[in-house]
Amino acid sequence: MPTAPVLVKTFVPAIISLMMVAALSACSGSDDNSSAQGNQNPDIGTDSPSVPVEPTTDSDPGNDPGSAPNNPSLPSANLLPPLPATPLSPAPGPDDEPTDVNRPVTAINRFFLVEDPPRRIEPVSAFALNDDDFNAGTPEPVISAPNGFDTTTNAAPYFDGISNREVFAGQTLEVLFRPLDDDGGLPGMFPNSLPEGASFSDNFNGTKTFRWMPLQGDVGITTITITAVDSEEPFYRSAQTILIRVNEPEDLSTIPNFPPVVNNVRNHTVRVGDPVVFELKGSDRNSTYPTVEVPNPPPGATVVPHYIFDEVTVLRFTPDEPGVVEFDVVARDADDPSLTGSSTVSTTVEAAAEFVLPGKRLRALAGERDFHLGFAALQGFYHQADGALYSDLAGLEFNLVSTENSMKWGYINPEPGTFRWADADNVIAFAKHYNQVVHGHPMIWHRQLPLWLYETPTNTLQGHMREFIDRLAQRYGDDVAIWDVVNEPIADEGGFRPSLWFNAMGEDYIDIAFRQARESDPDGILLLNEYDIAWDTPKTATLFPLLESLQQKGTPLDGVGFQLHIDAKFDLFDEVEANFQRAADMGLDIYVTELDVAITDADTTEADQANVYERILDICLRQPRCKALQLWGFTDQYSWRRGQSPLVFDAAYKPKPAYFALQRRLGED
Ligand code: G3I
Repeated sequence: MPTAPVLVKTFVPAIISLMMVAALSACSGSDDNSSAQGNQNPDIGTDSPSVPVEPTTDSDPGNDPGSAPNNPSLPSANLLPPLPATPLSPAPGPDDEPTDVNRPVTAINRFFLVEDPPRRIEPVSAFALNDDDFNAGTPEPVISAPNGFDTTTNAAPYFDGISNREVFAGQTLEVLFRPLDDDGGLPGMFPNSLPEGASFSDNFNGTKTFRWMPLQGDVGITTITITAVDSEEPFYRSAQTILIRVNEPEDLSTIPNFPPVVNNVRNHTVRVGDPVVFELKGSDRNSTYPTVEVPNPPPGATVVPHYIFDEVTVLRFTPDEPGVVEFDVVARDADDPSLTGSSTVSTTVEAAAEFVLPGKRLRALAGERDFHLGFAALQGFYHQADGALYSDLAGLEFNLVSTENSMKWGYINPEPGTFRWADADNVIAFAKHYNQVVHGHPMIWHRQLPLWLYETPTNTLQGHMREFIDRLAQRYGDDVAIWDVVNEPIADEGGFRPSLWFNAMGEDYIDIAFRQARESDPDGILLLNEYDIAWDTPKTATLFPLLESLQQKGTPLDGVGFQLHIDAKFDLFDEVEANFQRAADMGLDIYVTELDVAITDADTTEADQANVYERILDICLRQPRCKALQLWGFTDQYSWRRGQSPLVFDAAYKPKPAYFALQRRLGED
């Protein structure tokens, strides 16, 4: 039996920090960003020949992707002071070291896999609020406005008659939000955060109602934050938080016991002969863990408890013929076994030959022209039922891999002194197995930060930032060729994004982050990564003066990451070309870092999408300073924009016209 999970909990109450998160999220603007990028090989190695689709038991002998970047910026004159002698937060230690996966039951293992130590990390709300916070009254709204906006002559939107509320678990709370603006006009509003099971519904009269039935797991004090948006200036906002105290009723039986549900299991497409692993889990609104059963498993399947998480059941099988494999999953209530939830999982099995494509593979074509084409690797893709097909296709088609979420601070370091390295270690192992260059993403960003950071004193944030950069670089510097050192520092409306970092250090945090990255990884290619900068936007107007300012300071900046989250209607190719050239004229390298092209409405087609992909690749190939073109994923199955089919393979791993457009352009002289 697995060792008992170690519970890692930190209670750090702070209403102020709650306000900070509310403010930062209210200012963060649209995260549904859309952005612009081209390329000779960054001399980070030549491509290896095609990688076999069939599972390989040992690493492909392809060419070494090489490691020395072509031109890291020169070390800057003024180095940073040494890192704090006593770490501001506990450094990673042997207890954080991943261990070999010597059990294939929970993942495919085409390549060497490791796993984090068996512990259950439940990042407890960093804002464990207490009665004093609740009795202190309703927090003041957090007002945010674009740089230069005159708030003295414009009244901020606000909510009428809002106050903290109390409710018993099992009862329904309703709160009416009526946004007002003394300047007139009807403000908009949106919820920054809602607890599980809550709704925020429109009354179609300018008001919206928050409804929520808290249950056992919600007892205590929680918050909701609703942001009012000025009707004239969309970035003039007022984030209003209210505290909700959920009390436990004397008679617990008054709390409805809801039946459990089987957690959503995607439909997958796999190949004959692939190991298929499902990690099946149920959830229960009453905060209990349902057991999970498979009454009719596929022939030859094994069904075992997860080796760490008792509430997870692992079903594993290897289909030996094409067809559709279905099985039922039943979640059974921990308190009342008669209460169940169920679903049917359907897996399409196809012959491997169905995935052998005509023409040369993208990475082969890229290698022939000394070019790098990459993708962002889904975190833990090897735990997915279609993980074998995912990894083989990705290894076959790309010679560069970026970490979509595996290196984000909030995941890697969820609690002070706790580190989860395994997912990033496994991306590195995958890249070595398939001879791919690694793009480390991101070092410093305003999102996906661990909640404990918001609790640390502002004057320690520079130290924490530098420590994290150093810890990432010390572990991965030898394997990561390219780093997104600072991600998305520019506000949507121009100016600096009012992030935790900017609020603590001003714009200097960018220079400091790059200097630390250079000190910690002398050979790394260091990028500033941003969206909405490939064509003329308010962000572009801030970007180029910022780049000039950094260069004047001697910031060790090698290049710019143009994310290019765009759609199939995109047509600003001349502006992309011009902005790439503008960066090149500054002696900076250009990386298309997160390309995806969404099909956003009925009158855009996959042909339109293919055209956009081909045009962006063409611009990149014709721009000598453009260094790499990376897709943000490669199959619609796992895209962050899944509903808009933005990538070059569909969810069943079939190539779309965009794939053949890339293949065609890569094959042209
Ligand atoms: O891993 C947890 C899981 O344990 C939990 O059950 C689940 C539900 O809460 O959340 C999972 O984490 C999610 C994570 O993706 C991994 O799937 C986060 O909630 C979710 O916010 C996160 O979204 C990612 C987003 O960045 C925010 O980090 C997207 O997948 C990722 O595509 C997106 O990528 C960003 C780049 O890093 C920067 N440029 C923009 C781009 C798109 O937003």
